[in-house]
Amino acid sequence: MVVLEVIGREWTLVQVAAYAALAYVVYKVVEWYFTCPEVYGRHGFKQNLYEENSYKRRQLDKLRAESGEFPPPYPNGWYKIAESAEVPKGKVVTVSALGREFVVFRGKEDGVAGVIDAFCPHLGTHLGHGGQVVGNNIQCPYHLWEFNSDGENKNIPYCKKDMSGSKRVNVKKFTTYESPELGSIFFWYHCEDKEPEWELHPGLSEIEKDVKSGKMRRVSANRWSDMMMHVFEASQNSADYFHFSTVHQYLPMPFNLKLVKADHIISTIYGAEGTEVTKESMMIRERLDRLRVFGWNIFTLPSFIKDSIITYVHIQGPNNVVFKVDTILGSFRAHYAMLPLEPFRQKATIVMYADRKIPFFVARLLHWWIEETVGQDRQVWEHKKHVAPRNLVVGDGPFAQYGKWIEQFYTEKSYSWNQFRARDSLEW
Ligand code: FES
Ligand SMILES: [Fe+2]
Repeated sequence: MVVLEVIGREWTLVQVAAYAALAYVVYKVVEWYFTCPEVYGRHGFKQNLYEENSYKRRQLDKLRAESGEFPPPYPNGWYKIAESAEVPKGKVVTVSALGREFVVFRGKEDGVAGVIDAFCPHLGTHLGHGGQVVGNNIQCPYHLWEFNSDGENKNIPYCKKDMSGSKRVNVKKFTTYESPELGSIFFWYHCEDKEPEWELHPGLSEIEKDVKSGKMRRVSANRWSDMMMHVFEASQNSADYFHFSTVHQYLPMPFNLKLVKADHIISTIYGAEGTEVTKESMMIRERLDRLRVFGWNIFTLPSFIKDSIITYVHIQGPNNVVFKVDTILGSFRAHYAMLPLEPFRQKATIVMYADRKIPFFVARLLHWWIEETVGQDRQVWEHKKHVAPRNLVVGDGPFAQYGKWIEQFYTEKSYSWNQFRARDSLEW
């Protein structure tokens, strides 16, 4: 029998194989725990939620809407409407969001994705219900009118007159931007249908550049269970310095283990002309100060460590959040996007990108960690109302600056709570 000498002991080949198999299984279990498979995996966080559609949830949302104190539910700006992979060639996807109906579709030949209003301009048929992609156009199921990704009418099969100069046969299109590097489709929403007033998140363009040059790669993507909250909540935390010492006092650990307590040092810059942060974005800088393990063993991190794990949270509009973490191992980026499906319901997704040299496993570990950190806020976000004006005291963070910042995403025509209240029912 073959006998090997390893770490001062003799092992048979069978023993070595058994231990190797065991190590492999343990590795796989750990990897499974932390890994989000590509395109919306399995972590559907639910934390003490009032069940969706339950009486309690409806009542809570009614109280929140009736208070009328939240900012309007649908801010203007760029939204991620879908993953590119969710809309393969020839597919039509219906999206109900921002109080409107959209269809996203992709041409069979040119592969171009378009976002258009879901209702056919002819007699109002919903193109997402029965509409098909024919060539590069979407075809209405009712009288077979066809529209391209720019919403232009390309065919009316029974009409002998040339209608190409007539706008009334076109369907409304939304300015769409698809990034193959980010694997995402974005579109511009404005309550008055104005054209884009700013460019898509500069942090996203940076990731795009890094993926294109081969420095970074897309690592994983996930979709949370819908977040039952107003879209502005995550960005409002930029002003709430104190909450870092309550909801984020423990670093996320597997099995919610309360192991490592952290002191965070936070500062925020709200975008303004002449700063590195454009007017419609803001930058939160988060630096870890002290770590306490099991509540004892208090130590302050040496500054070279503190300086090597600074997280920047770069938010554009209240709905596009880019986490930037630069470490000695390399750089990580995560895009957390919200799309308001209802006033208090956000489709929330996250995509992780990391330097190519970083192993997938490490990058996905950080992905998990960011998801968990966002998850720490959910219990508050999903059950709170808004107090306007905020009832602040000395020591609260820069809420006044935040309040000014968020205003730029609304106009007088933004869909208001009064409009909701005027409806018979609050079941939007
Ligand atoms: S309603 Fe769409 S073609 Fe007539
Ligand atoms: Fe938070």
